[in-house]
Amino acid sequence: MSDTRISEEAEIKPVDAAPQPVYLKDYQPPAFRVTHVELKFDLVPAATRVTAVLHLERHPDGAPGQPLVLDGERLSLKRIAIDGQELGESEYRVDDASLTIPDAPDRLRLETEVEIDPASNTALEGLYLSNGMFCTQCEAQGFRRITFYPDRPDVMATFSTTVIGDSASLPVLLSNGNPVERGELPYGRHFVTWEDPHPKPSYLFALVAGKLEKVEDRFTTMSGREVTLQLWVEPANLEKTDHAMRSLKAAMEWDETTYGREYDLDLFMIVAVDDFNMGAMENKGLNIFNSAAVLTHPQTATDAAFQRVEGVVAHEYFHNWSGNRVTCRDWFQLSLKEGFTVFRDQSFSADMNSAPVKRIEDVSFLRTAQFAEDAGPTAHPVQPDHYIEISNFYTLTIYEKGAEIVRMLRNLLGWETFRKGSDLYFERFDGQAVTIEDFAGCMAEVSGLDLDQFMRWYSQAGTPEIDAHGEYDYARAEYHLTLRQRTPATPGQPDKLPLHIPVRVGLVGTKSGEDLTLTLDGEALGKEGVLHLREEEQTFVFTDVAEAPVPSLLRGFSAPVKLRFPYGREDLAFLLTHDSDGFNRWDAGQRLAMLALDDLIAAHRNGVEKVMDARVVEAFRGLLNEPADDKAVLAEMLTLPSEAYIAEQQPVVDVDAIHAAREFVRQSLATVLRDDFMALYRANRSEAPYAPSAEQIASRRLKNVALAYLMSIEDEEAIELARQQFEADHNMTDVRAALTLLVHSSRSAVADPLLRAFGKKWAHDPLVMDQWFSLQVTRPQADALDRVKYLMEHPAFSLKNPNRVRALIGAFAGQNRVNFHRLDGEGYRLLADVVIALNTLNPEIAARIITPLTRWQRYDETRQSLMKAELERIRAEELSPNVYEVVEKALAE
Ligand code: TRP
Ligand code: ZN
Repeated sequence: MSDTRISEEAEIKPVDAAPQPVYLKDYQPPAFRVTHVELKFDLVPAATRVTAVLHLERHPDGAPGQPLVLDGERLSLKRIAIDGQELGESEYRVDDASLTIPDAPDRLRLETEVEIDPASNTALEGLYLSNGMFCTQCEAQGFRRITFYPDRPDVMATFSTTVIGDSASLPVLLSNGNPVERGELPYGRHFVTWEDPHPKPSYLFALVAGKLEKVEDRFTTMSGREVTLQLWVEPANLEKTDHAMRSLKAAMEWDETTYGREYDLDLFMIVAVDDFNMGAMENKGLNIFNSAAVLTHPQTATDAAFQRVEGVVAHEYFHNWSGNRVTCRDWFQLSLKEGFTVFRDQSFSADMNSAPVKRIEDVSFLRTAQFAEDAGPTAHPVQPDHYIEISNFYTLTIYEKGAEIVRMLRNLLGWETFRKGSDLYFERFDGQAVTIEDFAGCMAEVSGLDLDQFMRWYSQAGTPEIDAHGEYDYARAEYHLTLRQRTPATPGQPDKLPLHIPVRVGLVGTKSGEDLTLTLDGEALGKEGVLHLREEEQTFVFTDVAEAPVPSLLRGFSAPVKLRFPYGREDLAFLLTHDSDGFNRWDAGQRLAMLALDDLIAAHRNGVEKVMDARVVEAFRGLLNEPADDKAVLAEMLTLPSEAYIAEQQPVVDVDAIHAAREFVRQSLATVLRDDFMALYRANRSEAPYAPSAEQIASRRLKNVALAYLMSIEDEEAIELARQQFEADHNMTDVRAALTLLVHSSRSAVADPLLRAFGKKWAHDPLVMDQWFSLQVTRPQADALDRVKYLMEHPAFSLKNPNRVRALIGAFAGQNRVNFHRLDGEGYRLLADVVIALNTLNPEIAARIITPLTRWQRYDETRQSLMKAELERIRAEELSPNVYEVVEKALAE
């Protein structure tokens, strides 16, 4: 087991001591800084040589006399010299995590040569091979697996990189910046030298070498700079690049018009690789993408995949400013770049597509996945104060909750002022490595707002809960709204302070059905206003309220909280039709469905006959019959809360009751409204050539939502329509929707031949096979787990590829709740076996895929003990720091 600390204790710790945490409070500026680096790679699969020349000098803020300590893991040192002088054995020390030179001069040119083994790198950190192609992943701490270096984001240097490789097998040699020299070498080899003029931390270093082909385009920036855009892929994937290139140009233009940010090199490259731990990586001038997050084709990618590509391409591009030009001082500041960049990509996608639907999707994701994280054993603040393994902190809290905090700032300041704060931040800190406080400081400075209390959003973990109560006083024409906030305890944070929570509200008149004009403390607010909840409890008194209102609370999801209000079903049905806030109209529908689901879950548990709530039926009938002005929103309104969301609302999760209740609602609605759903399906069919446009996506979504209802009752006509939709083979969205519904039905006679045909047709395309894996293992029938085991033996599956693992194991454990939580514990055992195998192969993925097991506290006692037993079985292994940290937290008392 390796320890990644750069500290004194690292040397005296016992060999197999448990990994120790790093603390934010211990931050020290680096002892040395690097002004320039020259790297030379001699690429050979199992024995690559890396020569590094580091131009080092003592940091002005560093304590004098400190030794020079460089990070380095799994490196075999071949040579070391200072200013041209080879060092003797006594002049340096190397252990499994670092290289120490006790008596380094104040300024030096350090040259090292190391050998590394990309061919056996299954962790996919550092330099590795993917389909015969060399590529790198250095964030967060992968660069130390390439060469000895102060591998921390506050050390920024200019890089000059020479890549040498075999001309035949590695015709393309890429790195950051601009190519400045290339040439032939003896023995059929060649080289390219790249220079990146922008100082950057090592985590943004990238290298790619392989048999790649490119598509090229151009972009002229607002100041007239001509930028060459290149997308590098394996030759077979050239036809899957259009959408990513279009998205890139749209993102470049959007960042200019929205944030005034322009690209700063002559070349911008994206490379698609098959083996990748995350979605993509923003390396300077050379973004590396998981092929799943960049390649699309109407026949192979769904609408959701097209939209994901658009979002991820934009996200990585936006990092060029929010991340690269201005970077993080240390990894506790990770949300500085990720929260802001997610907020930016969410805004971009909202502008490119349906803004209300984008908001609904983002909030749904936050409320299920991030809220669950915040309520579990790995809950942590958006600015954590300690960690053992930083790669475990690329979480929904850092990304999604971090983005919500930036969104609240945008709303508190208003766009114009927020934009001024953003300009100030980029100008003031350009080329620097800074903190979350630096970012917030700019926002406070331009607005004059006191953000002290607001900053608790960064330091306190857990999802705040608001209990709201309202009372209408007819005699006085007043509405009294009381809000009480509380943030539950999280590991290491038993007591919480009140947060500054912006609550956007409207009062909808029950007679008029319109937003009433709000007057609060004598101040006219207009048709809606923002309440600033700062105390534990506050009462807001609205005056001149002419009619009894229903309050519309937390409009647009103005803060990432759980808000409870004792709405009656009538109130919710009323808001569903009358709320002027699109988000809250949708949320009223979700709340109404939740009330019905709660009753049905109770009925199921008590063995009582289930009765469908007539109000929900009528609400759906209304939705189906009212002319749809926004099809995309309608599709969302017709979608029931997911099993994961329902589970979040239960004190003890009963997976079977949730599944049964939700199925009952689906089937009841389908039975009563069968003809309406059929009409909706037919009205939204189209023969038009595929385009990933907002309109087409909305129609397809609506059509497939209707088909899903009809398939839930296995309507004969619907089965035939699904079969036809599959056979028509118009686009992957429709094909996959039809195949999924058939495979998830009991009609194997219809589904099986189609499933086989699909598997055969796409055997050559791993991204399609991933969909084929996922849709089978998410089927609710009892054979799902056997299918997982069977498919793990399929030639297209490999534990070494993260996309395959997510498609098969991740989909089963995360989405097939009834089967993962089988009472014989087989689902848990399967996941634990996979975690144990991945712990050695790929610790980052192992520590992620384990998540469902860590949520054991949420289930009944039988399941709790089964899950804990599997966690303990994992704990007994020799663990990577990644899995160690997660398992220890999950099993902590
Ligand atoms: N910075 C990347 C992003 O959000 C995240 C990332 C890509 C990453 N690959 C990684 C993080 C590997 C940790 C490990 O855009
Ligand atoms: Zn990012």
